[in-house]
Amino acid sequence: MTVIAIDGPAAAGKGTLARRLARHLGFAFLDTGALYRAVGLTLLRAGADLDNAAEAARMAADLDLRLLDDDAIRSEDAGSAASRVAAMPGVRTALLDLQRRFAATPPDGLAGAVLDGRDIGTVVCPHADLKIYVTASDETRARRRLAELLAKGQNTDFDTVLADLRARDQRDASRPTAPLVQAADAHLLDTTNSDIETVFQAALTLVERTLGHRPQ
Ligand code: CDP
Ligand code: CDP
Repeated sequence: MTVIAIDGPAAAGKGTLARRLARHLGFAFLDTGALYRAVGLTLLRAGADLDNAAEAARMAADLDLRLLDDDAIRSEDAGSAASRVAAMPGVRTALLDLQRRFAATPPDGLAGAVLDGRDIGTVVCPHADLKIYVTASDETRARRRLAELLAKGQNTDFDTVLADLRARDQRDASRPTAPLVQAADAHLLDTTNSDIETVFQAALTLVERTLGHRPQ
């Protein structure tokens, strides 16, 4: 089984790259951030206390996977709630098996998997065949996320999105359990001045070098 791990801060372009690589290589794709967002949204909808770690872990263990396709998980509120519950070890443990099983046995008998998140290369799949750490400047990431949110009709502005991203990155990077950090053996891709195609081509070069797949 071939596993590609893609990590990095919010709105760096992880998902876009991971999805495209998976399609190109005929691999399965898992957006692990959606799992944490779904837990965050479940707590928000239940009106639960976002500091109640025991309840959050219970909800993560009983997660309704249909929420992964619900657009409501894409709001910045769900993202912020996600990063709060993501700091709880019980929540991370509850979601770990599902992610590892996906990587070990991708659906539909596919020959590999691409997972994107924060701790894929460090905790979920430390033996991944290829690890890529995708990043970009705070302002670039906020601009990209703002465009997405406005396109979805959400009412927000640049300063709010930038502050939300920074708060989330700070929380993700400073938590004791599975913090956001570049794995020692991850390749760094800074997408600040690169469009999606350029980033994809750079990743394909890494794929070819490390896995021997020939980019087309
Ligand atoms: O998964 P992550 O939150 O890291 O980011 P994403 O959802 O892949 O990308 C966030 C937004 O930035 C999307 O709208 C992408 O189309 C856009 N993007 C971009 O404009 N240029 C890139 N090099 C990468 C992503
Ligand atoms: O799309 P964006 O990059 O903004 O965020 P996401 O990938 O959907 O992740 C939402 C939140 O889930 C992050 O801010 C992290 O707190 C958490 N997360 C995590 O802790 N570990 C992962 N493997 C993926 C996401």
